[in-house]
Amino acid sequence: MLVFKTKKELLDYILTLPKKNKLGLVPTMGALHTGHVSLVQKAIDENETVVVSIFVNPTQFDNKEDLAKYPHTLDADLELLSNVSEDILVFSPSAKEVYGSKIKAKKYDFEGLDTVMEGAFRDDHFNGVGTIVEALLLLVKPDRAYFGEKDFQQLQIIRKLVKQQEIPVEIVGCAIVREPHGLAMSSRNERLSKPLRQKASFIYRTLLAAKEKFGTENANSVLNWIKEQFEEEEGLELEYVEITDAETLNPITTKNEKLKYRAFIAVYADGVRLIDNIAL
Ligand code: PAJ
Repeated sequence: MLVFKTKKELLDYILTLPKKNKLGLVPTMGALHTGHVSLVQKAIDENETVVVSIFVNPTQFDNKEDLAKYPHTLDADLELLSNVSEDILVFSPSAKEVYGSKIKAKKYDFEGLDTVMEGAFRDDHFNGVGTIVEALLLLVKPDRAYFGEKDFQQLQIIRKLVKQQEIPVEIVGCAIVREPHGLAMSSRNERLSKPLRQKASFIYRTLLAAKEKFGTENANSVLNWIKEQFEEEEGLELEYVEITDAETLNPITTKNEKLKYRAFIAVYADGVRLIDNIAL
């Protein structure tokens, strides 16, 4: 498996590939797990060449401590990827290689997609995500780029970004991969004790029950029901729960059968922040 540390090395290599090859890009921050692998596998199935970037992007962390705690597991990540395919191209640059001497995010206007939910609770987060994803798309120039529905708001923002910046790439959304008991896979799950990890499956069970309720009840009553469930659940602290239009991420007003809705949730489990969402 080839691992590139600099933009030039990666670009020089990409230039040697046949022009007709379709190129897929999977941006990650490493600490790879089965959720990431599902994106990589889909990219391999759909493209002749696949680039996986591994870069813990400093500008998307609003909290220095969170950035410092983010796991760096490059050797294990490379091992995991080489078990998927030896043909994957890995791009694993330093912050200096990506940003030069000024580690700074661009400012975007994502037309409200970035001010709700994760954007409301994490200052400047989506400016940082936009900056790195735009830089990667302009560098690699993939035909397709793969993002997980685990971070559904991020996925919608990236769709908006490529439209606004007129970047010719197909953005492919990939289904959430879950642990056997239902918890959405995340690098942060490693920080939970085994019993808490099991307990956190309550998040997904509650979302599933909420989906069922949404068939017959209005959104407010479903939201209140979810809040009540968490009040009674010790060890899990609800940060927010929202039901929104899946396209605009605007909170639902009256239910319209023609629109698609989604429920979003953020929960703290012993100081570890977990997010999840479900199509209603
Ligand atoms: P990271 O958290 O490493 O996630 C990389 C990609 O994997 C994202 O598109 C994310 O949605 C997807 N992913 C993570 N867990 C998943 C799961 N359980 N099921 C399906 N997909 C999952 O998201 C980022 O990195 C960064 O913000 C990034 C886009 C790389 C920009 O720095």
